[in-house]
Amino acid sequence: MKKYLVTGGAGMIGSNLVKRLVKEGNEVFVIDNLWRGKTEYLHDKTGKPVIPLETHFFNYDLLEPGIAENVISKVDYVVHLADIVAGIDYVFNNQSLLFRQNIFINSNVITSVRKFKDSIKGLIYVGTACSFPLTRQNSLDVIPLREDELYPALPESAYGWSKLMGQYETELLEKETGIPTCTLMFHNVYGSPCDFGERSQVIPALIRKAINYPTEPFNVWGSGEQGRAFIHVDDVVNGLMLALEKGWGHGHIQLGPSVCTSIKEIVEAVVDISGKKIDVFYDTTKPEGDKARSADYSKAKSILGWEPTVGLRAGLEQQYNWIKSKLIVENEIVVSFLGDVASIPTAHNVGTKKVFITNEQCESNVTQVASGELIKGDVIENHQHNSMEEFYIINEGTCVFSINNIDYSCTPGTFLKIPAKTFHSLNATSDLRFVYWGVSI
Ligand SMILES: NC(=O)c1ccc[n+]([C@@H]2O[C@H](COP(=O)([O-])OP(=O)(O)OC[C@H]3O[C@@H](n4cnc5c(N)ncnc54)[C@H](O)[C@@H]3O)[C@@H](O)[C@H]2O)c1
Repeated sequence: MKKYLVTGGAGMIGSNLVKRLVKEGNEVFVIDNLWRGKTEYLHDKTGKPVIPLETHFFNYDLLEPGIAENVISKVDYVVHLADIVAGIDYVFNNQSLLFRQNIFINSNVITSVRKFKDSIKGLIYVGTACSFPLTRQNSLDVIPLREDELYPALPESAYGWSKLMGQYETELLEKETGIPTCTLMFHNVYGSPCDFGERSQVIPALIRKAINYPTEPFNVWGSGEQGRAFIHVDDVVNGLMLALEKGWGHGHIQLGPSVCTSIKEIVEAVVDISGKKIDVFYDTTKPEGDKARSADYSKAKSILGWEPTVGLRAGLEQQYNWIKSKLIVENEIVVSFLGDVASIPTAHNVGTKKVFITNEQCESNVTQVASGELIKGDVIENHQHNSMEEFYIINEGTCVFSINNIDYSCTPGTFLKIPAKTFHSLNATSDLRFVYWGVSI
C-alpha cells in the first residue's frame, strides 16, 4: 500500500483522483481549505466518505508556509492540485490576487516537499494549457500545441503565469534535490463533481443556465467562436494514475484532445441535452480569453500510453445530470423545518401499508406524517398519496435512490423536499427506510 497526499483533494479533479487511489488500495491524505472543494465530494454513492475524514482530511490553508509538512512527512508521493482555479469572469477580475495566491500556494508546497527529500518518492505538479504563449492561441486556425512551444513564455492571463511559475519551481526542485517530478499540463477539464456557481468554468456555467432557463437568462460570454480542447475528468485521472507509474523525469506533458471545440458547439450540445427551446444571447462585451487551442498529445501517448477516451457528448450528458440533481436538491432542501429528526415517529408502517399521524411539531400547513420502507427496486408511485401535494423525506440511514433517472444519495437526517409529481417516480436503488411528511392540498 502506497501513501499519497493530494492537495486540493476535495476539488473536482482531486476528489476523483482520491477515489481512484483509494479504490486501488492506497492510503490517501487530503489537504484542502474548501475554497471551492467540498468534503461531500469525497463521499461514495452511499454517502460514506472514501477516506476517514477525522484523521486523513486536513482543512489547511496552503498560503501558510510549512503547514503541509506534518502530512508530507507521512506520505510517499504528493500530488499537488490545490490552487485558485475559476471561470474567466473571476480570473480576469482578480488577476493580482490570483497570481499572488497561486505563487504562494505552489511555492509553499514545493518548499515543504524539499524538506522531505530523503523520504518523498515523487511530486506531481499540475500545470495548464493557459501557460502556453498567447501568440499560439490567438487564431481560429488551430495547430495543436506541442510541449516544446511553452518557451519563450507569454501566457495571456495571470492564472497562466502563476501556474507556469509553479512549474518552473518544480523543475528546480527536481534539479537540485533529485526528487522525481512530473508536470502534467491539463487542457480544459470538465466533469463532476464541480462548482457550477458564480466562480464556475464555462461548461458548468452553461449547464446551470440551461437548467435554470428561463428563470436565469442564457447569456454566453464572448462570440462563441472561441474554442478549447475539452477533456473529461475521468481521462485526466487516468493520466494522473499513469504519471504516478511512469511519468517521472520527463518534464512537462500535456493532457488534452487534438480537437478544438468552439463554445458555440458546447452551447448547442447543452441546449440539445436540456430538451428546451432556449434563446441564446452572445455577449460580445465580455472577455473570451485565448481564441482557440488544442493539444498534440503525442508525448503523453508515447511516455504514458495515454489517450482521451470519454466522448464529449457522453461527458456533457453526465455532467448535466449531475448538476441537475444538485440544483434540485439545493433548491429543495428544507432548512427551517420545525421539529428534529429524532422526534419523528418511526416504524409506523412497513412495506406498502401506510399509517398517517399528526405531527404537532410540524409547521401548521404540514398536517400529516408517515414513515415507510422501500426495498431495492420498489417505486413509490405504487403507493397512493393522492391527497398530498408535496413531501419531505428524512432518511433514517444512508440510502440511494433515483428520481427520473437521476441518482441521489442521502446521509441520515437529510431533509429533502420533493414535489408530489416527482416524488411519485422515486425509485429506490438501495433499500430505503424513510420518514416523510405530506402537505395536504
Ligand atoms: N479544471 C481545469 O480546467 C484545469 C485545467 C488545467 C489545470 N487545472 C489544474 O488542476 C488543479 C485542480 O483543478 P480543479 O479543476 O480540480 O479545481 P478545483 O477548484 O475543483 O480544485 C482546487 C482545490 O484547491 C483548493 N484550494 C484552493 N486554494 C487553497 C488553499 N489556499 N489551501 C488549500 N486548498 C486550496 C480548493 O478548495 C479546491 O478544492 C489546479 O491546480 C488547476 O490549476 C485545472
